[in-house]
Amino acid sequence: MSPLAWTTAPVSTLAGEIAVPGDKSISHRAIMLAALADGASRIDGFLEGEDTRATGRIFADLGVRIETPSASRRIVHGVGLHGLRDAAHALDCGNSGTGMRLLCGVLAGQAFSSTLVGDESLSRRPMRRVIEPLAAMGARIDARDGGLPPLRVVGGARLRGISYATPVASAQVKSAILLAGLYADGETDVREAHPTRDYTERMLAAFGWPVAFEPGRARLAGGHRLRATDVVVPADFSSAAFFLVAASIVPGSRLLLRAVGVNPRRTGLLQALRLMGADIREHAAREQGGDRIADLEVRHARLHGIDVPTALVADMIDEFPALFVAAAAAEGTTRVRGAAELRVKESDRLAVMATGLRRLGVAVEETPDGAAIVGGHIGGGEVDSAGDHRIAMSFAVAGAVASGPVRIGDCANVATSFPGFRDLARSVGLSLAES
Ligand code: S3P
Repeated sequence: MSPLAWTTAPVSTLAGEIAVPGDKSISHRAIMLAALADGASRIDGFLEGEDTRATGRIFADLGVRIETPSASRRIVHGVGLHGLRDAAHALDCGNSGTGMRLLCGVLAGQAFSSTLVGDESLSRRPMRRVIEPLAAMGARIDARDGGLPPLRVVGGARLRGISYATPVASAQVKSAILLAGLYADGETDVREAHPTRDYTERMLAAFGWPVAFEPGRARLAGGHRLRATDVVVPADFSSAAFFLVAASIVPGSRLLLRAVGVNPRRTGLLQALRLMGADIREHAAREQGGDRIADLEVRHARLHGIDVPTALVADMIDEFPALFVAAAAAEGTTRVRGAAELRVKESDRLAVMATGLRRLGVAVEETPDGAAIVGGHIGGGEVDSAGDHRIAMSFAVAGAVASGPVRIGDCANVATSFPGFRDLARSVGLSLAES
């Protein structure tokens, strides 16, 4: 457990115009595809978070020259699909499930073997979901206890394309299979019952790889090349989410969040908050790098509890800690179902959020795949984020409307996705002290 703790104080109002950092999912993929492309790619808006930097370090270890001309900018000198070389030591993915799972797909296609390790949280996360489909493609990945990191990805396998229906809604699983598909003979076809974020597909297309995709399905064939291209990473909707909730629940607030990625596979929280009565408007919606971005204006509104439609779950999978805080501040009960995946994120988010909110006097009933949260009043108290970045930031938001100070333990991992959170939050009026 990290010693970094934050203590909040109630605030009167939030105001400002801000830009949150670059999208984490897109930053990981930009490094990976640029590394495997022919030629130099420039990435602007790269997330300077621990997770995405870990992915950058890994590709540098694999022989890719990556320059950092300034913060949030990378020049990646791609080595081509077959140009990576053996790092000769374990590759450390840190806290990042995306890094580790997507790398399984890339490394399964290499001539050399690799070992992937992660921190304590990542070492508890299920990897069988990528090992099984990749094994069906001909890869061999050895894991601890049948499915946990460290992983040994055995090189030299001859991969063949598969047709695969994912049993869990997971963009990481889909992406690992598609990335292995770059190295496979024949066609790789991934189908999913609940469509997930399509950044791998979009970025493959941007790097010139023929890929057919629609919500719920993606197909590609091996045997092509990736061409270097420049990537502009939009602001991360998942980082914007904390501010959307904060301004919604603090009376008198107005915030403008600039140039946020609003791909529909990411913005389920927008819809859920609107169902709760939130006042969030999209301005200047525009295209950037083949995807949608917009400026989001959020004003305080009286929120009420809802039954979160299960159809929205995959599109807001990272936003449930923030949604729980909105629910705790709303009038009435909010019910979440169909969200068992939350138990295998950076922490068991259902359990950790339920425990923390109860410590603040909120009635929460936890179920195997969701929770019922009775909103209306948040008190002060001491909560543990369990080393989970999104939980730490969510409780920082809860503290803005709590009746007393909230002390949040184990906050260091906020740096994995949003290193400047505390300063940016304070700049719009949140009260957040290191303690
Ligand atoms: C991600 C996919 C999601 C999400 C994670 C990032 C990605 O995970 O929770 O934060 O970049 O593909 P799952 O694929 O496990 O749902």
